Amino acid sequence: MRSEHTQPFMQLRSVGKRFGGVEALRNVDLDIHSGEVLGLLGDNGAGKTTLVKVLAGVHSLSSGEIWCKGQSVDISAPKVAHELGIETVFQDLAMVPNLGVTDNFFIGREITTTLIPKLIKVLRSKAMHADARETLNRLDIHIPSLKVSVDSLSGGQRQAVAIARAIRWKANLVILDEPTAALSVPEQNKVLELTRSLANQGVAVIYITHNMSDVLAVTDRIAVMYRGLKAGELITAQTSQGEIVEMIMSGKRSRA
Ligand SMILES: Nc1ncnc2c1ncn2[C@@H]1O[C@H](COP(=O)(O)OP(=O)(O)OP(=O)(O)O)[C@@H](O)[C@H]1O
Ligand SMILES: [Mg+2]
Repeated sequence: MRSEHTQPFMQLRSVGKRFGGVEALRNVDLDIHSGEVLGLLGDNGAGKTTLVKVLAGVHSLSSGEIWCKGQSVDISAPKVAHELGIETVFQDLAMVPNLGVTDNFFIGREITTTLIPKLIKVLRSKAMHADARETLNRLDIHIPSLKVSVDSLSGGQRQAVAIARAIRWKANLVILDEPTAALSVPEQNKVLELTRSLANQGVAVIYITHNMSDVLAVTDRIAVMYRGLKAGELITAQTSQGEIVEMIMSGKRSRA
């Protein structure tokens, strides 16, 4: 759990994002803390994925500022997000389907040996397989072969591999956008367990879901989006499903 007095890993201030006439995000203030699972909730079209894409360097801001460890940052590209240790796990785009597990682990960050400087580099396949296998074993994730393409894995195995990859690259912030949609119950439980272990290792986690039992099981704090605005925040241990649903539906805090 986080200490109340530590600086947030990230701070969003008055963040806005426009797509032509659509204001997908308006004036959003949000603090993201290391060691905490922050649930990002809201109805369809509320702005959750847009907020994630702003943090992942997919969309540029229309207005506002983002701070990382107290410094103003311009997350102008996914590469910048990676350099800040921000890893995003999308339900469908988590991995390249026709590549193997190890290839997906190291995509864009392959281990190589330089034979002739600036001319020939060779991939160190064995080292990458061993490295991927070590991470998966440590997290108790069972994948029979790391060479098979990831589209032959189950949905839960894919999510688990994507989370393991984020751990391998020592992410500071892992964003999970609807990670358990379409998973079996044991697979959902594995993803929830991995999410919790990320936070226990000091990683900040943003967890987007429409599933209330996931929200109550895994989040520490909840931010509710409503039509592009942040409707409010709730502490999971001090709220109820009824209060959360009310805020999602009306954009307002229900009266006690
Ligand atoms: N690339 C885009 N171009 C135009 N409008 C967009 C674009 N991306 C998102 N929007 C609009 O921004 C708003 C917020 O969409 P967003 O995908 O962030 O919602 P969401 O909260 O993730 O919803 P869901 O729960 O359905 O995934 C919607 O009105 C959507 O149509
Ligand atoms: Mg979305």
